[in-house]
Amino acid sequence: MTSAIENKRHKPPSPQRLKLEEPCKFNFDPDGDLRCFDEEWTKSGGFDVDFSKLRDTFGAGSVDLEDDDFVYPDTDDETNRDWLKTFCNMAISYYNEEKDTSLEFFKVLRANYHPSAGITLYITFEANDSLDGNQTKPYQAVVCYLPVFALISDLVMMDMESSWKFLRSVCILSFLLCSCSVCQTLCVVDSREDAKNLNVTLQVDASNTTGRPIPETLFGIFFEEINHAGAGGLWSELVSNRGFEAGGQNIPSNISPWSIIGDKSSIYVVTDRSSCFDRNKIALRMDVLCDSNSCPSKGVGVYNPGYWGMNIEQGKKYKVVLYVRSIGDIDVSVSLTSSNGSLTLASDKIIALASDVSNWTKKEVLLEANGTDDSARLQLTTTKKCSVWFDQVSAMPVDTYKGHGFRNDLFKMMADLKPRFIRFPGGCFVEGVWLGHAFRWKETVGAWEERPGHYGDNWNYWTDDGLGHFEFFQLAEDIGAAPIWVFNNGISHTDAVETASVMPFVQEALDGIEFARGDSNSPWGSIRAAMGHPEPFELKYVAVGNEDCVRPYYRGNYLEFYNAIKNAYPDIKIISNCDGSSQPLDHPADYYDYHIYTLAKDLFSMSHKFDSTSRDGPKAFVSEYAVNSTDAGTGNLLAALGEAGFLLGLEKNSDIVGMASYAPLFVNTNNRRWNPDAIVFNSSHLYGTPSYWIQQFFTDSSGATLLNSTLNGNSSYVEASAISFQTNGSDYVQIKAVNFGDKTVNLKVSMTGLDSRITRVSGYKKKVLTSTNVMDENSFSNPEMIVPHESLMEMHEEEDLMVVLPPHSFSSFDFLKEYANIKMLVSDSYKKISTM
Ligand code: AHR
Repeated sequence: MTSAIENKRHKPPSPQRLKLEEPCKFNFDPDGDLRCFDEEWTKSGGFDVDFSKLRDTFGAGSVDLEDDDFVYPDTDDETNRDWLKTFCNMAISYYNEEKDTSLEFFKVLRANYHPSAGITLYITFEANDSLDGNQTKPYQAVVCYLPVFALISDLVMMDMESSWKFLRSVCILSFLLCSCSVCQTLCVVDSREDAKNLNVTLQVDASNTTGRPIPETLFGIFFEEINHAGAGGLWSELVSNRGFEAGGQNIPSNISPWSIIGDKSSIYVVTDRSSCFDRNKIALRMDVLCDSNSCPSKGVGVYNPGYWGMNIEQGKKYKVVLYVRSIGDIDVSVSLTSSNGSLTLASDKIIALASDVSNWTKKEVLLEANGTDDSARLQLTTTKKCSVWFDQVSAMPVDTYKGHGFRNDLFKMMADLKPRFIRFPGGCFVEGVWLGHAFRWKETVGAWEERPGHYGDNWNYWTDDGLGHFEFFQLAEDIGAAPIWVFNNGISHTDAVETASVMPFVQEALDGIEFARGDSNSPWGSIRAAMGHPEPFELKYVAVGNEDCVRPYYRGNYLEFYNAIKNAYPDIKIISNCDGSSQPLDHPADYYDYHIYTLAKDLFSMSHKFDSTSRDGPKAFVSEYAVNSTDAGTGNLLAALGEAGFLLGLEKNSDIVGMASYAPLFVNTNNRRWNPDAIVFNSSHLYGTPSYWIQQFFTDSSGATLLNSTLNGNSSYVEASAISFQTNGSDYVQIKAVNFGDKTVNLKVSMTGLDSRITRVSGYKKKVLTSTNVMDENSFSNPEMIVPHESLMEMHEEEDLMVVLPPHSFSSFDFLKEYANIKMLVSDSYKKISTM
């Protein structure tokens, strides 16, 4: 293997003596910065890595690096230091002269590269931590994540000189990459399709009897806790780090994003471990040093800005719940204010005698907003001298979907896709970079106050786990989709539990299934019942891990899970991580997981990917697909059209493709960890990318009938399918067609095989998604630039059925089958024209 890490410097220095008074402990602060808790160790250090070479060398994919691929910190090189700080969001020093302590080296364990999503480096820091100087100890693995778009947008944070150097190379590289891939896509289309009139014919056998049923669950969604999809997204909790646990369990700790109102003469704030909740002991102590005479008129205290601002709307109600304790009387104002606190949108007081709050006490306040601000904050302030503790401070809008805690607008956007299944909660989120940071369902159930929360080390942010195991099943039920639970199988990106020791993980999975579908008297089912859902959830699918097939122990671990689950729940369908599309699996499974992220033109041509797959064996679950390369922008039409071609192929191969979902579903634009995504949002607004809208074209497909169809003609950039389906008591034939090329294509639809009771097929509805430029994207300022446009089709008798496919477009045409009570003869070929 060619190492892409430029090992310019030197071999690891021989181990040095460490004179650490205490071993240095690494942890993440709430900003995602990796810090050593000895403050003098922070904020210097860097990498000697040639990132562009990494990108060039690896192409898309993942590599495990060898021992020689150490990366030596190079503090001399400012650019490296800035890269580390800016893109890896972390700063670390490896050497402290005064103390003669050193980190020996960084080691890059693995590098993932997705052309448009960026580079992910899995890094271990090793340090000398023993006095004999002969041992190094891995401390922590870190994901250093470098989104390609961030390479440019985040440069403003760098100093001008190093920015310029770096910007120049990134620009040249990006330009070359973009021009190559876009030209590859577009130029090829040009050269091949220079004929003046492009004409294709879709021969459709419209008989349902020769058609084939499409699985009921073909199209669904994949919800991963990535990009703040849940915490700071679908889950409506407004407070971030509500339990003060995000700074870690060592005290004092960072309380970010909480901040202090007041200065050191008036207030002292610190965390301690005095919480009444056993699984999350950190609480906030606030010593107010001023009183009503000396405090600022608006008081002193703390505020929480939520996830890049709270969306507070006039006339809406917000429930604030918090736990408080004090050694004196308290008089605390709970307020929603503008982002700098100058404007109060809603406020109420918590007043209590010392005797009433000498032990932890739960307090609730209902606030009604008298103004609107989508970057508001929550404040806890007072002008009373006191020592007061707070913990588990929550602020939820009263108006959430069915009161179940889901943000209404995001829920609706998801529901509009009519998903037949929902896969959750990840993705890499399930695995973790380290097992210690994986999503473990038992930590996420029960009262919200008692959940410890966890740091998702793959996407590098903290979640309070308000959206937990229970809420995911509730979400599936509310949205009418079959839940597909992905659980950790004892394997993370870095460490793994060997098969001989995996039984506790198997038991955890069995317990998780019992939680979902056990009766309300069962040990775990009773916890679900206590959470308000005595009826079991309908769990029929589980996935053993995510993308773990190539990792050590996968097969062994998988079989332990498979056997135990089939034994206890024979009806549950089990999904393997191993790809069975090109060769049979070597283990039993009901489905195999298939993920694909690639260039638009490649995904378009993958409409034939499953044509030659064996019809025997488990079905494919295409649980993650997307165009995510340099030609995808942050979600453009070109990407969506590539996906459209692929989806038509999946629909046509739905005898062996059982389910499919785009990834990722959501991105909070303030913390884009993956690009592109289907639904983009901030605290108050949202829009669908063209990829989102393409999925809406397939909402009638699940459970429909695939009609036999053949496409002929002189364009290789058209794919089409035909289905029939029923809705509201009417029968339709639906033709869907993508034109990936830049020329108009005439499509002639020739239908045969119609049931003789049908008197005619009338035009009904056409929907088109296109734009003047294939690189166009939606945005907050123009959220509907590229959305499907619907119109009614008019049909004229005795003409051929001709439709037009505009350049770079996706279209669907719904034809209503009209039945007569009096049987009428119909001709085989339907001769209608749509005036479009
Ligand atoms: O969808 C984003 C990520 O892509 C998922 O977490 C992972 O499964 C895949 O690598």
